[in-house]
Amino acid sequence: MASPSLSSLVLFLSLFLLLSGPILQIDGLGVGINYGQIANNLPSPSRVAILLQSLQINRVKLYDADPNVLQAFANSDVEFVLGLGNEYLYNMTDPNKALTWIRTHVQSYISQTKITCITVGNEVLTGDDLQLKSYLLPAMQGVYYALGSLGLTTQVTVTTAHSIGILGNSYPPSSGSFRPDLAEYLQPMLNFHSQINSPFLINAYPFFAYKGNPDQVSLDYVLFRPNPGMTDPNTNLHYDNMLYAQIDAVYSAIKQMGHADIEVRISETGWPSKGDPDEVGATLENAAAYNGNLLRRIQRKEATPGRPSVPINVYVFALFNEDMKPGPTSERNYGLYYPDATPVYNIGLQGNLPQFYTHSSDTPRTQLVSWIILYIYFSRFFLIKDESRCKN
Ligand SMILES: *[C@@H]1O[C@H](CO)[C@@H](O)[C@H](O)[C@H]1NC(C)=O
Repeated sequence: MASPSLSSLVLFLSLFLLLSGPILQIDGLGVGINYGQIANNLPSPSRVAILLQSLQINRVKLYDADPNVLQAFANSDVEFVLGLGNEYLYNMTDPNKALTWIRTHVQSYISQTKITCITVGNEVLTGDDLQLKSYLLPAMQGVYYALGSLGLTTQVTVTTAHSIGILGNSYPPSSGSFRPDLAEYLQPMLNFHSQINSPFLINAYPFFAYKGNPDQVSLDYVLFRPNPGMTDPNTNLHYDNMLYAQIDAVYSAIKQMGHADIEVRISETGWPSKGDPDEVGATLENAAAYNGNLLRRIQRKEATPGRPSVPINVYVFALFNEDMKPGPTSERNYGLYYPDATPVYNIGLQGNLPQFYTHSSDTPRTQLVSWIILYIYFSRFFLIKDESRCKN
């Protein structure tokens, strides 16, 4: 009598797990990834869609609005941040051109493909083109008003991505401030962020801080490994890694300009697995430590000491090694994956080559469900055996 009710309980549990599985998986890993395409050997977007599904990565940042990518991810769970390159800024200050761009690149896809954000320009304020800097906010506004006229501002937000170099001071984090010469651009831009409730994005690479000063900067501190860390003398907050200190320095800089209501997110961070002889720290081991430890902190929904209620929001750079990027060797070696979709190093992401082709994902949950199904299957034999014994 006990056995059938036990097996129906198991059946109920396994059905529950099976049904709840996909719902829980919508959460994914929480980490976002930059899908850069400056390469001539990357897999097709539809194969990339399969790879990302096997990795349970469902937040992707593009540097453009590649129609092939948006098409390949139709009806998927993946949320996209689209990029408008710096060469578009001038045109986006023209309301008609902004409207045409949004119609073509966002409105045409958004019923099938989730588009949640547009970054207008990349690292404009740390460049030296003064005209481009003056177009940045008007371009962001042009894109926002175009979205508004199509009724898309509740789904899609507008921002831009800055280099951490916009900070004039970053230490200690409570004294973070922007470069004084950028205030004329940043003050009205922060007012705009606040008005439209959009996040402030930073590209931050503790790798560069280490590379520039390996004798002074602790490798463990930048790689999220156990280390004494540092305590901010003004707040008594303790920092055990450089990325969190940089994020809180940006919050302080924003606060200095009168805003406490704007969220800081990391639009790029990463570590190269290879570099030129003078690129100290660019190794496979360090890249695996940086990205692996960061991934685990994201999965634990960690927050920075200064904003303990706001889990860090990060897009790792990058999905693939990109062979056509100019510059030092490190520039072509930031990828988590080689172009053939094999991992550059293991950071505990679950996708691998067979799964890349078979579409399956070997998560602990699917393993558990498999074991329960096996249990139900075999418990039937035992029940039949029991019954036959009773008859005897
Ligand atoms: C900007 O607009 C002009 C005129 O419509 C067009 O010729 C040009 O290609 C546009 N620039 C970009 C980068 O799209």
